Amino acid sequence: MIPTKLSDTGNRRIAVHLTAADRATQLAADVRQGLTASPKELPPKWFYDETGGQLFDEITRLPEYYPTRRERAILTEHAAEIAAFSRADTLVELGSGTSEKTQLLLNALSDTGTLQRFVPFDVDEAVLRHVADSLATTRPALRVNALVGDFDHHLGHLPRAEARLVAFLGSTIGNMRPDERLGFLARLRATASDGDVLLLGTDLVKDPGRLVAAYDDAAGVTAAFNGNVLTVVNRELDGDLDPDGFAHLAVWDPDAEWIEMRLRSRRAQTARIAALDLTVPFEADEQLRTEISAKFRRDGIEKELANAGWGMTHWWTDPDGDFAVSLSVPA
Ligand code: SAH
Ligand code: AVI
Repeated sequence: MIPTKLSDTGNRRIAVHLTAADRATQLAADVRQGLTASPKELPPKWFYDETGGQLFDEITRLPEYYPTRRERAILTEHAAEIAAFSRADTLVELGSGTSEKTQLLLNALSDTGTLQRFVPFDVDEAVLRHVADSLATTRPALRVNALVGDFDHHLGHLPRAEARLVAFLGSTIGNMRPDERLGFLARLRATASDGDVLLLGTDLVKDPGRLVAAYDDAAGVTAAFNGNVLTVVNRELDGDLDPDGFAHLAVWDPDAEWIEMRLRSRRAQTARIAALDLTVPFEADEQLRTEISAKFRRDGIEKELANAGWGMTHWWTDPDGDFAVSLSVPA
């Protein structure tokens, strides 16, 4: 299908499959459903407007937030092996954000001499434009085909190639519930051909104290990231949710083995979402869930991959066993 908006300059192209109008429709549906549910919930993809993307970027540099550093260490160690195994002509990156760690993969694939094209895919159009423009300048021999899209709707628009390396880094897969993960991995498998390789970053189960600290940092950056979802809803749906009326919470669920981010209403209050003609009452201490961040064990994620038609071929962790990067191929 033809994307709604295309913009080309030299070696870079940006295809917008998720338009501002689609975003507005989806946000409206998610807010109506999530804020009238019990317990209340909002999906984490709505954190990522321009401010949310910048706050996440700040999170990745916090002393408490180890995942980015650990994943970068693994990629530094194994990028050459990943490139040699995949011999990819196309690097696809899902939920690419700033694509900072991806430079390691781009360098390694350039060294193998196979790389022709980079396809970053994200809901955040602002960050994608920035990354695409800057890579197209710094790597003139590379075709950069950025795709603004949503994992839930637009994986079918990913370009096919002889050999794709599809990277899904940062443990963003942990922000999906188990049923959503299965659906996502199966839809991705449906786009894959024999030459494709999936590179997956997964944060691992560890001491709950360290996990909670990573999601409740001393500087309050994660709290600001969490509260940003209220600002997004207010701006896009003419709401009056009071960001100061909610406190940030990070809670470890030992049974589900995930962190939950929540916003706790500091008092009884009522919000109005004018664009939806919706009045939302909050009791004092009522909690709105804004994100899960699942933590993994090797056998669990290997089974999940297998259930979606992927066979794991490689598994690497950092020396402390905090984070894992795996390679899988169509089974
Ligand atoms: N891969 C980067 C960024 C992780 S942050 C890293 O490892 O640091 C998660 C990224 O996924 C954000 O850039 C966000 O905009 C994107 N994202 C979140 N939900 C998405 C969805 N449903 N579809 C597409 N991208 C999504
Ligand atoms: C993008 N994602 C993997 C991050 C995580 O760790 O779950 C988002 C995040 N939420 C709070 N801090 C970071």
